Amino acid sequence: MPDKKMGAEMTDAQAIADHWGKGDVYSLILETMEVAGIDPSSVTIEQLAPVDHFHARGFPATVELADVLPIRRGDQLVDIGCGLGGPARYFAKRFDCHVDGIDITAPFVDAANRLSALVGMEDVVACRHGDGQKLPYGDNSFDGGYTQHVTMNVPDRSAFFSEAFRVLKPGAFFALTEHGLGEVGDPHHPVPWSEDGSGAYLMRPADTIAALEDAGFSEIAAADIGEKHLKGYHAVIELAEKGEAPVFGTHILLGKQAPQIVRNAARNIEERRTHPVQILCYKPG
Ligand SMILES: C[S@@+](CC[C@H](N)C(=O)[O-])C[C@H]1O[C@@H](n2cnc3c(N)ncnc32)[C@H](O)[C@@H]1O
Repeated sequence: MPDKKMGAEMTDAQAIADHWGKGDVYSLILETMEVAGIDPSSVTIEQLAPVDHFHARGFPATVELADVLPIRRGDQLVDIGCGLGGPARYFAKRFDCHVDGIDITAPFVDAANRLSALVGMEDVVACRHGDGQKLPYGDNSFDGGYTQHVTMNVPDRSAFFSEAFRVLKPGAFFALTEHGLGEVGDPHHPVPWSEDGSGAYLMRPADTIAALEDAGFSEIAAADIGEKHLKGYHAVIELAEKGEAPVFGTHILLGKQAPQIVRNAARNIEERRTHPVQILCYKPG
């Protein structure tokens, strides 16, 4: 007899993956690049950044996260929910390190690896298809790990954090950014991670911190990044209203509802329905 729970989990995982990306995402990116006048044969990771840092505030948020992480040259990092691999390529280039990425959305993994090849980084960034709740890596494999705007879709935080803990070496850092659930709760939809509330598993920041502690992490420090996100969303809304939105941007991934999604993401923060946080913690050494 098929395991009903397992079947439901698989359906949920596929629905979440389908929400993020279907079809040939790499070709969509390449075609848009050409419309924007970017030559794929000489494209840089900085030119890819408006699309492949697929989270609130995009590239600047990745840079600010990198600024506070204790990464050393040659480190082996894991990016859980790596999306199109933009952050992984940035970390690999900036710190001269190796990044393994994993993502539940197969078309994103395909695009991530092809984009890495396009910029000649396939030896230092390797993305594979899989679920952060069950990582395909050995124990104590990585010097550090991060997960940017992924956990909003993760039903089993306990498994997700325990797996991150397991694959990190003692003393390794683990960083997380997410839209936590705000005091008021009940976010307006659609939002980037969900069309209508399905596949969404937001947690209050205090509960996320407790789940990290339960998984074994220590020295947990959380920062409220809601105001920064809000400014970023308002800048995007303003540009769109003036008809000046860049051709090459994450709206190509969000689809037709992109303007509403961005407005809701901003409104949810303003109304304290969501509570964006950046958390840094460590596996005890
Ligand atoms: C907002 S995007 C962020 C992508 C990437 N971290 C970035 O910042 O550019 C969310 C990503 O989380 C991935 N995701 C959601 N649930 C996941 C899971 N259980 N395991 C791995 N990836 C997951 C989605 O497929 C999507 O690529």
